[in-house]
Amino acid sequence: MPEGAKVQKMFAGIAKRYDLANLLLSGGCSFYWTRRLVAQVKRFAPKEIADLATGSGDVAFELKRRLPDACVRGFDFCEEMLAVARERAEKIPGADAIEFAFGDCMALPLAEDSVDAVTIAYGVRNFENRPRGLREIRRVLKTGGKVFVLEFTQPAAWFRPIYFLYLKFLLPLVARVVTGDKKAYDYLAGSIEAFPPKERLAAELRDAGFSSVRAIGLTASIVAIHVAEK
Ligand SMILES: C[S@@+](CC[C@H](N)C(=O)[O-])C[C@H]1O[C@@H](n2cnc3c(N)ncnc32)[C@H](O)[C@@H]1O
Repeated sequence: MPEGAKVQKMFAGIAKRYDLANLLLSGGCSFYWTRRLVAQVKRFAPKEIADLATGSGDVAFELKRRLPDACVRGFDFCEEMLAVARERAEKIPGADAIEFAFGDCMALPLAEDSVDAVTIAYGVRNFENRPRGLREIRRVLKTGGKVFVLEFTQPAAWFRPIYFLYLKFLLPLVARVVTGDKKAYDYLAGSIEAFPPKERLAAELRDAGFSSVRAIGLTASIVAIHVAEK
């Protein structure tokens, strides 16, 4: 099975428990990280925003809350995750204006030069082909548009031993209890460990044609926000 199809299947299996697992496994930090990401986007004041790998919609909802006049659309290639996002949207004031649609980051259903900002949280790490995905993001952005990537990165050296113990032992245990799918979270731990440090992702963004690339580490650099311009 191609890598993308495996990722799709894995998220389909955990879709209903994803939000709870996310909250517990991040110790509540995921809220703060999403807010920091959206604060960066708000400063740019885009009108057309595509939230890629939107999952259950956290980033899209926060974007709509902070930028109520912007057109926010969420794309994902896992229908089960999109179903959770749509269900949540019905209960959040104003969120029914968000369109959630199928969209594979390797070939987005968006025209060239069509959006002011792209956000993507914890999606780039799962790309089957990262250079291709980053070029695809650049394709859909207008000239002067920006991409905002929130992703796990390699943490500060002092924090690494504790963090990798957590990834190897505590995360799979909690994940198995919450989602019943230990394998999905073994994958998560493996993909975090294998993901490049922020300087390398910044270089990959430049290689994809982006300029003015900045990386902001959060919480001992467990995650980082990369901002880059087309
Ligand atoms: C870890 S979840 C993140 C969801 C959400 N962004 C959040 O902040 O909670 C990763 C999501 O990326 C989606 N995804 C992974 N690769 C993708 C791709 N190539 N195209 C579209 N969606 C993708 C998965 O289906 C999943 O919903």
